[in-house]
Amino acid sequence: MTNALEQRIEPELEQFIQNGTYKRLNYLASPQGPRVRMEDRGEVIILSSNNYLGLSNHPAVVAAGKDALDQFGAGTASVRFICGTFTIHRALEAACARLVRTPASLSFVSAWNANEAVPATLLTQDDVIISDQLNHASIIDAVRLAKAITKCQSAVYQHSDLSDLQAKLEAARDRRVKMVVTDGVFSMEGAIAKLPDLIEVCRKHQAVLVVDDSHGTGVLGKHGRGTAEHFGVLGEVDMITSTLGKALGGAAGGFVAASAAVCDYLTQRARPQLFSNALPPTVAASALASIEYLEQHPELVTALRENARYFRDQLLGLGFRPLPGETPIIPVILGETAAAIRMSDLLLKEGVFVTGFGYPVVPQGQARVRCQISAAHTRADLDQALAAFRKVGKQLALI
Ligand SMILES: Cc1ncc(COP(=O)(O)O)c(C=O)c1O
Repeated sequence: MTNALEQRIEPELEQFIQNGTYKRLNYLASPQGPRVRMEDRGEVIILSSNNYLGLSNHPAVVAAGKDALDQFGAGTASVRFICGTFTIHRALEAACARLVRTPASLSFVSAWNANEAVPATLLTQDDVIISDQLNHASIIDAVRLAKAITKCQSAVYQHSDLSDLQAKLEAARDRRVKMVVTDGVFSMEGAIAKLPDLIEVCRKHQAVLVVDDSHGTGVLGKHGRGTAEHFGVLGEVDMITSTLGKALGGAAGGFVAASAAVCDYLTQRARPQLFSNALPPTVAASALASIEYLEQHPELVTALRENARYFRDQLLGLGFRPLPGETPIIPVILGETAAAIRMSDLLLKEGVFVTGFGYPVVPQGQARVRCQISAAHTRADLDQALAAFRKVGKQLALI
């Protein structure tokens, strides 16, 4: 006997398979790294992980997690304000703020949670939030949530279009707080937000600028401080949200980095803080160790940049046309979702794990395989992956 829900979703699942858009999970039996052991497939090169600095299995990062397990036990057993804050949370938050150069920071169990907390907690019915069209799903949902909870107004500006943003700000001039939100690095494109222009426009309109730098932290700027460091505007962004689940150890967690007042207000009022357990201490300790390692080894960021440049240049040399850019996110557009999934399947047969993305993750007709490069990839890893791209590209008549 199936219920009404299952009667609806089972044919949909079948349809995903028919359309070639069904996502099959690949199980890994080894830690994340440039090469992993995939169940039933053996060793594959990973080109689709956010482990940008290769820290997720770094000995110092793993040891810090183990030590924290011994020192603090499994977890917080409560939400922050009741009895769920450990000294390791305070140390982590100081390190996050120090890294991105803001006065304070507050950790969350994910960047998704951090993004959802910001507008829904800080805005009111007198305010507006204006969001870039290509912002991450967590920001899109954060705006929806903020509208439902606070009754604030919202608007979306064309991707990176400063004149459209100005027009939207102009139209919202009667709003008390105007919040503008953008990804620092757009995760599906690898494009970098025009931060200096955004800062200027926001200042002109007295708007608060929030940058989700989940793909910029640890990646951009000489020391990996993110998009603001890349543009030489450290300390000029009002609020930065970011993840601890990518370059900074890859485990999980996120943070809001901002003024002390904003972080304090979020501690007092953000629902994910008030009604959900804090980041487990093991994870907090590993993230803290990642930040400390990055602070001592900025050459990791240089290695990442050089690897990304090499891979992009070689792909171009093979005849592929990746989206232009200077980040380690290198997407190759293929059109239909099924084409992206097929390319990804063929690459996997060649021992290279690159995910294909289609609608609704990216706009219809712009499905892609998205390569992500790590500082931990060796030239041999990258060359082997490029040989697979060459073979599959010819097979599919793409090059
Ligand atoms: C731009 C951006 N923001 C937020 C997130 C969510 O990060 P987390 O895994 O920490 O929730 C992601 C993850 O994919 C992301 O790409």
